[in-house]
Amino acid sequence: MEEMKYIYQAGKPDGKKFILLHGTGGDEHSLVELVNLLDEEATILSFRGGIQENGMNRFFRRHGLNQFDFASLEKETDTLLKEIREISAEKGIPLSEWILVGYSNGANIAAHLLLERETELAHGIFFHPMSLEVHTQTFPLESKKIWVSYGGEQDPIVSTASFTELVEVFRKRQGKVDVFESTYGHQLTMEEVQAARTWLKEL
Ligand code: MLT
Repeated sequence: MEEMKYIYQAGKPDGKKFILLHGTGGDEHSLVELVNLLDEEATILSFRGGIQENGMNRFFRRHGLNQFDFASLEKETDTLLKEIREISAEKGIPLSEWILVGYSNGANIAAHLLLERETELAHGIFFHPMSLEVHTQTFPLESKKIWVSYGGEQDPIVSTASFTELVEVFRKRQGKVDVFESTYGHQLTMEEVQAARTWLKEL
């Protein structure tokens, strides 16, 4: 199994602890500035997706827009979890202290990780995620709290149905979900970063 590329930056002891997962075409640096806006004292563990699609980094393969390669999804989810466990053990950070922060493709693998692998990982901020429609697990998600944003009907990638399904599956399994809706499509806006920051303060 190949090791994933990542950056780790220790923050202040009281700062949040974020695991960052970029969108298609990003890398381990893409979300760092954004996360500084969420908490300037944060500890950061930021991964680079190990899959290449025409030179763009992703966290799992697809065969076309929203035509996911489910074998790749499962394999890469296992690799990501293994890396998170190893780095957390090395740095002495319990899994329960991390907040997964993902955008688009990174949000999709992060949500899949919470739904399909029973771990102590419990928190997520997911910008523009969608349902990958994989539901093999039923363990309760009562300890999980996620904040998710959606770009409305203008989003060319995430349909209302797919976003709603993701929210519903978390809620049906007792996960706590806060939803932020914008009208700017798939792009990340300052408004949603501010909303996520407010949510974090109450976490
Ligand atoms: C995905 O492939 O995970 C979604 O379509 C989002 C994206 O385009 O990255």
